[in-house]
Amino acid sequence: MKISIVGGGPGGLYFAILTKVARPDWHIEVFEQNKPDDTFGFGVVFSDSSLDEYETRDQVVYERMRKEFAYWDDIDIHFKGEKMTCRGNGFCGTSRVHLLSILHDRCSEVGVDLHFEQRIDPSTIEARFADSDLVLIADGINSAVRDAHSGADGFDVAVSTRSNRFCWMGSKRPLTDFTFFFKETEHGVICAHTYQYTQDMSTWIFEMTDGCWQAHGFEEDDEEGSAAMLQEIFQEELEGHALILNRSNWRQFPRLFCNTWHVGKMAILGDAKASAHFSIGSGTKLAMDCAIGLFEATVSHLETDGIDAVFDEYDRLRRIPVQIVQHNADVSLAWFEHMERSWDMDPYQFAMVVMCRAKSVTYDNLLLRDPEFVHAADTEWYARYFEQSGYDYRESRPTPMFTRYRLRDLELRNRVVMSPMAQYSADENGNLTDWHLAHYCGAARGGMGLMFVEMTCPSPESRITLGCPGMWTDDHEAAWKRIVDFVHANTLTKIAMQLGHSGRKGSTQLGWETMDYPIAEEDRNWPVQSASPIPWVEGENQVPAEIDRDGMDKVCRDFVQAAERANRAGFDMLELHCAHGYLLASFLSPLSNVRTDEYGGSIDNRMRFPLEIFRALREVWPMEKPMSVRISASDWKQGGITEADTFSIAAAFRDAGCDLIDVSAGQTVADQKPIYGRMFQTGFSEAIRNVTGIATMAVGAITEAAQVNTILHTRRADLVAIGRAQLWNPFLTRQAAAWYGTRLDNDDWEKQYLAGRAQAYSVQKKSSEQQLEWQLKARPKRHFTFRDND
Ligand SMILES: Cc1cc2nc3c(=O)[nH]c(=O)nc-3n(C[C@H](O)[C@H](O)[C@H](O)COP(=O)(O)OP(=O)(O)OC[C@H]3O[C@@H](n4cnc5c(N)ncnc54)[C@H](O)[C@@H]3O)c2cc1C
Ligand SMILES: Cc1cc2nc3c(=O)[nH]c(=O)nc-3n(C[C@H](O)[C@H](O)[C@H](O)COP(=O)(O)O)c2cc1C
Repeated sequence: MKISIVGGGPGGLYFAILTKVARPDWHIEVFEQNKPDDTFGFGVVFSDSSLDEYETRDQVVYERMRKEFAYWDDIDIHFKGEKMTCRGNGFCGTSRVHLLSILHDRCSEVGVDLHFEQRIDPSTIEARFADSDLVLIADGINSAVRDAHSGADGFDVAVSTRSNRFCWMGSKRPLTDFTFFFKETEHGVICAHTYQYTQDMSTWIFEMTDGCWQAHGFEEDDEEGSAAMLQEIFQEELEGHALILNRSNWRQFPRLFCNTWHVGKMAILGDAKASAHFSIGSGTKLAMDCAIGLFEATVSHLETDGIDAVFDEYDRLRRIPVQIVQHNADVSLAWFEHMERSWDMDPYQFAMVVMCRAKSVTYDNLLLRDPEFVHAADTEWYARYFEQSGYDYRESRPTPMFTRYRLRDLELRNRVVMSPMAQYSADENGNLTDWHLAHYCGAARGGMGLMFVEMTCPSPESRITLGCPGMWTDDHEAAWKRIVDFVHANTLTKIAMQLGHSGRKGSTQLGWETMDYPIAEEDRNWPVQSASPIPWVEGENQVPAEIDRDGMDKVCRDFVQAAERANRAGFDMLELHCAHGYLLASFLSPLSNVRTDEYGGSIDNRMRFPLEIFRALREVWPMEKPMSVRISASDWKQGGITEADTFSIAAAFRDAGCDLIDVSAGQTVADQKPIYGRMFQTGFSEAIRNVTGIATMAVGAITEAAQVNTILHTRRADLVAIGRAQLWNPFLTRQAAAWYGTRLDNDDWEKQYLAGRAQAYSVQKKSSEQQLEWQLKARPKRHFTFRDND
């Protein structure tokens, strides 16, 4: 077998070594355009766990890496003259040139054919490597080979240039820890990401918004001039050391992903295939991990099953891990693009945001890494909350999740909310059934602060399905009152009504049938209305009528009578559903609203009707009771609602008397392309909370207490809604309290269930201790470093 590799970076070289060691009789050649000691960049970083992985692959490379690596455990965050340290993080690093020299030496020892100073022209690949069985494209972020095959029938590249400016420099300033210096300048905040990677060298990556960069007058290729300005700004932090340059021109990060990982007999790897922002230090790691994946696929299948089997296996092994790392990097990158939104924070809150920015690190992870850091952050949190709200948790320290929260006269016992979840179980006249009684009354015993009921419809035609509950008859009102009365009489959970009108998504099938498609029996469908006559799915759903003034007035009257009924039924709070593509959402999104009257066009026009409804409800809903609005903060589609739109919407509802924005996303167009992941919508809530100052509720793939505490600590939201996870475990809040050992008021458990309380606390305590023990055992081992010689 013969394998040719274009590009001698860490990815290409590591693949060459592993494959040659496993298959000494194969011919493996690498073509690198540079000389062996030519390199850009300064240090490279790995987590402890990555090194452990390399130990299992090639012992020789591992030992050489290990010997020379710098190791550090702490992350320091410098912010407004304060330094916060978070311990227990476990990173190691070396210089890029050193890593490459280890890999070059090993290539030579095992017999990889290394060719330096040979640039491969993409147009020559076919002829030049005609006798190769596999050609590996590992030519880095600016890959010319990828660019020559970038279309849908090639590597199908998706690329976007991110807005922040950054440059990579070095210095001899010693640094004991991985250090973030955040520096306020007259033009904005500049962050220096720094770490020492050899006895006398440290990496200094400077990053700032484009606006800050422009205002300072930096120039893209003026390395000397930029270094002089940065030296001046970071004079104190550099402690008199100069900045050292090495191709340190300014860049904007290209966020790149190849949807296809092979073309002909070429496979692609490393930065050429998927880039990961440097703030999570994973570019080199990602390249080497993909080298491992491709190596495994190649040695298992190339000779025996052919190249397609290799590609399938490579994809299977690596696609999800790459997407996860890239997603974490994207989220981290996005935080750095908006670091100014956190600038008003207290020091430890800011430090928590920095530590938890990529969402893989949570409150509980930090408790494990550095309990003292979390203790300091909690102390600061309780002190701030006492000052802001008068609630005093400075002694009891229940974790932020278990602090009370007030909206007007409504006091919630904690920050956990059960998200509205359609049950599709009403009868065909919108009447509740026994299912609703059992479901809501049962769930309310789970300990959450607030429970939303599902979207309830103010008129027959505003239902989504024939299983949706209504609020237009006295019977509806009485049935809801029965549930509300039970919840109030037997639990401390508060209960909120969500009112919504289905719009163009109405007259469709139940959630467990073919959702969003018309009712199968044609004669049971009813005409639907929307902002504009655009069907949900062209050719499938009926074309909605564009709602006119009379229609709007009718909808408004229906909502008002439903709100009056909800108040009489005793609901504590009212939410207006303006999300998920239903009638009011169809006005907000420019993708579903193409009206030319005063209800279409600008965001001010698009929110006019939802605001009219909200104001009408606010008039009849008692002033002492809070109201919220649920929005879809993204359409997950090009040309949809913008971040700026969401700020306008939140501010307008706030000014109209809304107390909380319930920040969901998507489901507004059928061809949305959401980016899922844990807490995947929380960033929208964070932006609205930080920019407009209105209280927000986050929702979406939040499944555990650690995430709730992280969200509250980092001001991503004030309340946290959990949907699916409370369907299968409505006792999640009680379980979390027992897990943290949080002692709540005596009457917090319903008296009928008190007998189980002591056991819950003891069982959960044992599990939390056991998990801690396992996690400590599973921690990557600490590696020997030059520091150990000191
Ligand atoms: C300016 C800059 C500085 C960086 N500094 C650091 C750092 O200090 N620490 C860190 O962890 N990460 C750093 N990174 C990221 C890191 O370099 C990459 O994530 C990582 O090296 C990816 O490895 P790779 O093998 O995929 O590609 P690369 O390391 O980029 O290697 C690709 C190789 O292909 C060669 N090549 C390109 N085209 C051809 C061709 N046509 N023919 C032959 N050879 C070719 C290049 O010369 C290069 O050696 C930096 C990135 C940039 C852009
Ligand atoms: C079966 C189901 C029914 C839902 N019903 C509603 C609803 O009635 N009103 C609403 O605003 N959102 C509804 N949602 C959205 C949820 O409230 C929540 O935003 C979503 O499930 C994401 O949160 P999760 O990941 O915690 O489940 C529903 C979601 C599901 C899965």
